[in-house]
Amino acid sequence: MNKKSFLFVANWKMVLTAQQSMNYCQEHISDMTKLSEATGNSIVLCPSFPMIGAVNYLTIDTPITLGAQSCSSFAPGAYTGEVSAISLAEFGCKYCIVGHSERRHYCHETDEDIARKVRHCLLAGMAPILCIGEVEDEAIVIKTASILDEQLSLLSDYVIDLGINETRTIWIAYEPVWAIGTGRLPDSHYLHEIYDMLEPIVSKRVPQGFTIRYLYGGSLTEENIESITNIGTIDGFLVGGSSLDFQKFKNMISLCV
Ligand code: PGA
Repeated sequence: MNKKSFLFVANWKMVLTAQQSMNYCQEHISDMTKLSEATGNSIVLCPSFPMIGAVNYLTIDTPITLGAQSCSSFAPGAYTGEVSAISLAEFGCKYCIVGHSERRHYCHETDEDIARKVRHCLLAGMAPILCIGEVEDEAIVIKTASILDEQLSLLSDYVIDLGINETRTIWIAYEPVWAIGTGRLPDSHYLHEIYDMLEPIVSKRVPQGFTIRYLYGGSLTEENIESITNIGTIDGFLVGGSSLDFQKFKNMISLCV
């Protein structure tokens, strides 16, 4: 049986400064390249907006891919301070995180804003990484299912008319909000159940013809990642804190072989 390849998405949030982002790439790009080639896993770096160009330049001609942490929910136009999906794609972004819980919370992004972002990513040729997850740590599968379903409820309206020439892959990142940055990984039994019920929800909410891939994110570390790699639905990981220290990130990626 072929080994499964995982997508590792490093979400640097607003933690690394411009200089630190450049240092990270300059110091580790060769190790990252070897790691990706040796493990078959893919690595996506998501720096903050001003660093997109520099990280693109530093990773060009390597297997390392670039992603953005967000994009505008509007097409290019008079929206001061916004960054369009198309600009990000022109700068080499292949992925774009949308609907991260920090943006839902601090920037009051709604499910509709997020569905629009998904649309603009696809039109621009980027694969959206759509984050969904419950806020409270109640571990009630049926309740979580209805929250995730609600978060996806407007998606179809914004992607249904897209043509076959547009990007057709959507990554769904299940990130329980209570697990982000808290050091608390959900119980693996709960996670199994969540991914089992997520697939039918997503297939109901996403029109036919799209390829859906699944990520998990929230307090992943080199110590706990192996406990969830056996969940068959999971194709990769959205990693915040543990991606900032390259040695930790590297250890996590090396464990998934
Ligand atoms: P964390 O963040 O790995 O630091 O919990 C994950 C995320 O916010 O995407």
